[in-house]
Parts: sequence; C-alpha cells; structure tokens
Amino acid sequence: MSLFQTSHLSHTGKFIILIWCFFLMTNSVKGQFSIINEHVKVGTNSSIWHYCNLYGTKDKPIVIGKNTQIGSYTEIKPNVKIGDNCRLQSYIFIPDNISIEDFVFIGPRVAFMNDKAPSAKKTIECTYTILGTLVKEHATIGGGAIIGAGITIGKFALIGMGAVVIKDVPDYAVVVGNPARVIGDIRDQKYIQKYPEFKALLEKQR
Ligand SMILES: CC(C)(COP(=O)(O)OP(=O)(O)OC[C@H]1O[C@@H](n2cnc3c(N)ncnc32)[C@H](O)[C@@H]1OP(=O)(O)O)[C@@H](O)C(=O)NCCC(=O)NCCS
Repeated sequence: MSLFQTSHLSHTGKFIILIWCFFLMTNSVKGQFSIINEHVKVGTNSSIWHYCNLYGTKDKPIVIGKNTQIGSYTEIKPNVKIGDNCRLQSYIFIPDNISIEDFVFIGPRVAFMNDKAPSAKKTIECTYTILGTLVKEHATIGGGAIIGAGITIGKFALIGMGAVVIKDVPDYAVVVGNPARVIGDIRDQKYIQKYPEFKALLEKQR
C-alpha cells in the first residue's frame, strides 16, 4: 500500500502526515516516488528530487549536509557522506563509502565505482573489497564521468565530461579523457576567466 493512500488513516494519522509534509517543505524537499529509508540524514534546505533511491543502514547511514540538491533518478548506497552546498545533477550512481565534501558539483550520469575486481560470485558471497573515494571541496565533475574505486579528487579539481578517472586527481587539476590526464590548473588565467566565482577563494589558498 502506498504511503500516499491515506483513506485508511484516522484523522490523527492524516494530521501527523500533514505536519511531516510541512516539515519536509520547510526544511528539505523530497520529490515524488523517491525511496529514502530511515538511515538517511538530510540537512536543512536540502532537496532530493524524483525517483531517487537512498538507503543507508543503521551502522552505515547516509549523511547529506545543508543546502544540497540531489537530482532525479540518483541512487545512493550506505556510508555515503555528502557535504553542504553541493549540486548533484540527475542519474548519478554513488555506491558505498564515497565521501563528498562541501560545494561539489556533479554532472548528470556520473558513476562512482568502489570495487576494482567485482564478480557475481564475490557479490553473492560478500567477499568483495570496497575501496572508498573522496571528492574534496569545490571539485566539479563533468557529466558522464566515471570515477574508479579508491580515488581522491583534489579540491577545486575539474573533471571533464566523459572522463574515466583511474588515478588520484591533484588539487586544482583539470583532467579530461580516458584515461583522464591533466591538461591544466584551475588557477590558470584561462580557467579563472571561466570560473570567476573561484577567484577570491583561490587567492585565499595561496
Ligand atoms: C574539460 C572542460 C572543463 C573544458 O576545459 P577547457 O580546457 O576549457 O577546454 P577546451 O575547449 O579549451 O579544450 C582543451 C583541450 O581539451 C580537450 N577537451 C575538452 N573537454 C574535453 C573532454 N570532456 N574530454 C576530452 N577532451 C576534452 C579539447 O579537445 C582540447 O584538446 P586540444 O588541446 O587537443 O585541442 C569541458 O570541456 C568540460 O568537460 N566541461 C564539463 C561540462 C559538463 O559536464 N557540464 C555538466 C553540466 S550539464
């Protein structure tokens, strides 16, 4: 039975659902048909749009910060942390043990991997090895990029669309291609012109 089929509920039940909806509207937004279990903590003013699946576990919750938006059709597994002020577009796959710091942008259809040597047998027998990934603050990941298992993406790094990232990306690096290679530095004049919003922040880092 759907949560939204309320005819079987008492007036008190309906009132509680109404208050809960009001709470969601003022503090965080949940789109239609998203499945978000009780082990997901969502910060204030954050949105999780339509058809998303977020399922943490008691030991491995999902924690999402404040003012973060998660686009439709995104799937997030246990032990994922997403910081404040992040913008995740649609169709993103984030498996276990991925940490995303504040102000990270993730383009559509980005997929994170967390197992370098997967097989059905290991999955069935739970003998797989998960390697976590860290995406540091202010990184931008272009649409369709694939991020390999156990990678660190440095702060302010810029990953081109469609890149296949198999090695750590240094802070400030601009990388493109398969395998991803460094083609620039976000502090270069060329990129500062394209990303003026980073200028003051990058000057503070010097
Ligand atoms: C990588 C990126 C940031 C641009 O960097 P840039 O240095 O300004 O790009 P340029 O157009 O000057 O190209 C520089 C070189 O990189 C190559 N290049 C640019 N983007 C590339 C990409 N995604 N994959 C492979 N090569 C790419 C160019 O062909 C060029 O190569 P050349 O020097 O051999 O001619 C941009 O192409 C990109 O991928 N942006 C992300 C867009 C996105 O995903 N948006 C999602 C929101 S919907």
